[in-house]
Amino acid sequence: MARKAQVRGIGGYVPDKVLSNADLAEIMDTSDEWIVSRSGIHQRHQAEDSVMASDLGVIAAQNALAHAGMNIADIDLIVVATSTPDFAFPATASVVQHKLGSSHGAAFDVQAACSGFVYGMSLVTAMLETGQANGALLIGAELMTRLLDWQDRSTAVLFGDGAGAIVLSAEDVDADAPHVIKNYIRSEGQFTDLLYATGSANAAAKDAKIHMQGREVYRHAVTNIAEAVCTLLEMAELEVGDIDWFVPHQANKRIIDGVARKIGLPAEKTILTVDHHANTSAASIPLALNEAVQNGQINAGDLVMTEAMGGGLSWGANLIRWS
Ligand code: ACO
Repeated sequence: MARKAQVRGIGGYVPDKVLSNADLAEIMDTSDEWIVSRSGIHQRHQAEDSVMASDLGVIAAQNALAHAGMNIADIDLIVVATSTPDFAFPATASVVQHKLGSSHGAAFDVQAACSGFVYGMSLVTAMLETGQANGALLIGAELMTRLLDWQDRSTAVLFGDGAGAIVLSAEDVDADAPHVIKNYIRSEGQFTDLLYATGSANAAAKDAKIHMQGREVYRHAVTNIAEAVCTLLEMAELEVGDIDWFVPHQANKRIIDGVARKIGLPAEKTILTVDHHANTSAASIPLALNEAVQNGQINAGDLVMTEAMGGGLSWGANLIRWS
């Protein structure tokens, strides 16, 4: 028996408003055919101007707590992964903590762009295993459409808003019982200029822009993600064939397919939500996990591999025996 981080619940939330590719084609020179063939994206959700990342995160967290059958009193660590925080400071996690009615434990943000959830899992696992917390809420909450320059068709079509949350607790378990098995995170800051955002996610500011060298990002993504998945399997002494569900960061269907091909993973083991959520950055993996659990794909005992790459460049993966 050892003290490990165990998944207790998962939840998600996307704003009601949907922007289809056809809607975008009315405001910029693009087409449904171009967007679908390059990215697999059909639509994305967009929050109203008055909404902040914490608002999305709170609803996702409430859904995850309900799914776990737990309440906020059981949580002594709140981590929010976001590139679109409510404020420069305090942390969006502090705002979420207050909105959830909690005033105990610790709360802070993680900034690792689209890899935020994967980084957050690594951090939260370590804190639970080492006794720094007993119950954790990890939230990915993003208002990516606020960072878009709607004149730049090469990035404006790729992103959406949403939030996902996972509840974990520290439990003494046997090696083969459900728990977070291992995490792997990497960064190569020399590639910052391939993918970065300037300006504010505040709806009133309207000064934000995502700068992306799409082809270069694509090339690095397939290589780095495949490396992360294979390294993590090696660390855990497992093989690709052991994976029950592959839950990738939902940036682009072509990247996801490219990685699956490279590591030899059958398409039917991949959870895909990029078609209806687009790229929701740090929220994309918990949103995809939530859908896969809700529709009965991921079940207790399944071996789940997540992965992400994003600005930094940062990347990584999590290997979880689901509860
Ligand atoms: N609609 C129509 N045409 C467009 C659009 C659009 N929305 N955007 C660009 N084009 C045009 C370009 O202007 C260019 O035209 P030209 O040949 O006349 O100059 C043409 O399409 C090809 O442009 P490319 O940028 O070369 O297109 P590419 O095939 O590389 O696809 C894409 C672009 C989809 C961005 C691709 O590079 C990609 O998937 N990159 C990965 C980026 C990504 O997913 N980033 C997300 C964040 S990182 C992450 O989360 C992993």
